[in-house]
Amino acid sequence: MKTVKGFASATVGNVACGFDILGFAITEPGDEVTLTLSDEKRDDCQVSLTGIIGDGGALPLDPKKNTSSFVVLKFLEYIRTHKGIDFSGHISLELKKNLPLSSGMGSSAASGAAALVAANELMGLPCSKMELVHFAIEGERVACGSAHADNAAPAILGNFVLIRSYTPLDLITIPSPKDLYCTLVHPHTELRTSFARSVLPHAIPLKTAIQQWGNVGALVTGLLTPDYELIGRALVDVVAEPKRAPLIPGFFAVKQAAIDAGALGCSIAGSGPSLFAFSSSEKNAREAGNAMQHAFSRSAKLASDMWVSPICSEGAKILS
Ligand code: HSE
Repeated sequence: MKTVKGFASATVGNVACGFDILGFAITEPGDEVTLTLSDEKRDDCQVSLTGIIGDGGALPLDPKKNTSSFVVLKFLEYIRTHKGIDFSGHISLELKKNLPLSSGMGSSAASGAAALVAANELMGLPCSKMELVHFAIEGERVACGSAHADNAAPAILGNFVLIRSYTPLDLITIPSPKDLYCTLVHPHTELRTSFARSVLPHAIPLKTAIQQWGNVGALVTGLLTPDYELIGRALVDVVAEPKRAPLIPGFFAVKQAAIDAGALGCSIAGSGPSLFAFSSSEKNAREAGNAMQHAFSRSAKLASDMWVSPICSEGAKILS
């Protein structure tokens, strides 16, 4: 018997203008997955879920339906067919959810990423982190019906990740400016990613696309320069935010509160209902967070949680 515990943190997809093509990881909170390997041979399934803590009974225990076990099954299949590793034993998996479900904080991606780094460690590191991202993306399809990579890729790799192409997958990691802090505020309400995607248009006018491209290019330039003022100016989303804002009670008041408190910019975290803001100091990030929480409570009567974090540079990791 051998046991390994993996950890992966919350991630923010889209980063305003980068719908489905840009995301970043923060350092906490995150999910933990403990995998135990044994020689036991079972006929039904090579991976079993022995328990989930912190989901209030909402997540499936069927290993083919739960993101964290599903990605491990995909990983085992891959190392058998591509690396010649024919593991015939059993892996039992225990998931500790610290991230709220349907929050826009990359909850399913964190569970999948934590499970994958732990499985890779258990099997003697047959895969690179870049390879693991493929399975983590498949996990997103199981969790919400869409294989977007803007949470899964930063959950595994850390930093900002730009998805230049999905087929073939081409990921570009962008290191974070040293003084960039993220404020994440999660109001106590749920918004399912599948629903938040269903309100989006299938086509957008060329004029809208041009605005979005301009901001994506500017945001990446702002991160690489680094130019904090440009980062703030580029945090504009004319594609998803206008359609999703009405799904988030208090959205406009909370965004305005972050800007008034001195944040560089603010938008929906992933598919919401959480909001993120960027600041160029930890102190400012806290002030923005306090103002955002106050605005959620005043304008929507919603309690919320708040985290302030630099961008996580290491991605999913082994805890023990
Ligand atoms: N890009 C995805 C979406 C992120 O906006 O639907 C989900 O967290």
